[in-house]
Amino acid sequence: MEKLKQAQGNVVTGDRFWDREEDIALLIKRIDEGAHVLLVAQRRMGKTSLMAEVYQRLSERYVCLFIDLQKAASGSDAIVELSLAVQPHKPLWNKTKEVFANVIEAITEKVEKVGVGELGLTLRAGLTAGNWAAKGDQLFEILAESEKPVLLLLDEVPILINRMLKGEAFTVTAERRKETDEFMSWLRKNSIRHQGKLRIMISGSIGLEPILHQARLSAGINNFVPFELKAWDADTAVKCLEALANEYGIKYEEGVATNMAERLECCIPHHVQMFFSHVHDRCVRKNSMTCSAEDVAQVYESDMLGVRGHVELTHYEERLEQVLGPEIMPIALEMLTEAAVVGCLSQEAIGALQKYYKFTERSTGDIQKEILWVLEHDGYLKQEDLGYVFVSKLLQDWWKSRYRNHYTPILQREE
Ligand SMILES: Nc1ncnc2c1ncn2[C@@H]1O[C@H](COP(=O)(O)OP(=O)(O)OP(=O)(O)O)[C@@H](O)[C@H]1O
Ligand SMILES: [Mg+2]
Repeated sequence: MEKLKQAQGNVVTGDRFWDREEDIALLIKRIDEGAHVLLVAQRRMGKTSLMAEVYQRLSERYVCLFIDLQKAASGSDAIVELSLAVQPHKPLWNKTKEVFANVIEAITEKVEKVGVGELGLTLRAGLTAGNWAAKGDQLFEILAESEKPVLLLLDEVPILINRMLKGEAFTVTAERRKETDEFMSWLRKNSIRHQGKLRIMISGSIGLEPILHQARLSAGINNFVPFELKAWDADTAVKCLEALANEYGIKYEEGVATNMAERLECCIPHHVQMFFSHVHDRCVRKNSMTCSAEDVAQVYESDMLGVRGHVELTHYEERLEQVLGPEIMPIALEMLTEAAVVGCLSQEAIGALQKYYKFTERSTGDIQKEILWVLEHDGYLKQEDLGYVFVSKLLQDWWKSRYRNHYTPILQREE
């Protein structure tokens, strides 16, 4: 019987990584064919883990560079992160140092010894708004000449783009748009120029298209092939729950693992892991490693929807606010709450909500369209015959338990 270790921290690889064999095979095929890939999925679906697993499986054949752009705010920051990722690959790093000769020269001897933080600062000092693109071009030239082909795994690109575009004030100024356009054009240019020599895979915890769309910059990534990472089907989730149970000596009563997958409906790997982790802790506490349907029902109500669920939800809300901005976030919250509490956000309710909001530059209807586009793209809601409904039952339950008090469904409000 298969076994699986629980996730510790965010990224899972190796003996903590479950399934995704077809996805990995398809991705590797695309990569081998030289494609650049845009990995898209709902939050917590396992994008970062998938990239980390691909990194491990391909590191014999490719020079794999994993770059997390979560903290980057400019083209210069991105180049620093890229350069730091090159450091473990000595021949490439030796050439990279030449790109930074302007700042590294003075401390060439020391540079191998200083910590990554300090090295980052040193490299950053050599970059300006005027030269990062040219230095970035040089870096790409170096990577393209590498003996082994290079695979760049860029995570949290949308967070960088979003920050570039909106800054702290959540306003897209002409200057910010220009800067973002420059960055996207630079990335695009290099991805085209070195196609076949290096491949780029982009992902992030928010969708890239809605952000580029907001800035009318969608053409920037049209040479990236979208690859959608889907939720596990029930069978895969059940097998994962069984493999976890085997590892930790838990026995489910008949049909209990299936019942867990059914409760989630949409089996997002992180939610499956959370569910197991609560079941495990409950079994340990009650000192019996047999898990019944009753245990699962209680775990769902009190643990999944409890404090830890709220922490997860807060994280979702923060990410959503980063995309939408504080001005339109309240109406988005209300649309989601309607969908959660009523079970469906109908066209009628969307229309009726408009009288409660006024925006200066655009009509409320336009803003709602943008919100729905983001919510659909990032996998919160999907469209059905009667209107928009939650994709994930757990997310809906979280949302409902957080906001249902004091909420009156839109169509029941008095005039
Ligand atoms: N293939 C997998 N096998 C087992 N667990 C997984 C797998 N993929 C994801 N998980 C679970 O989901 C959690 C989140 O994974 P990961 O951070 O890779 O997702 P993500 O899509 O990058 O999330 P975010 O949207 O926050 O960036 C992991 O900590 C793990 O518990
Ligand atoms: Mg991630």
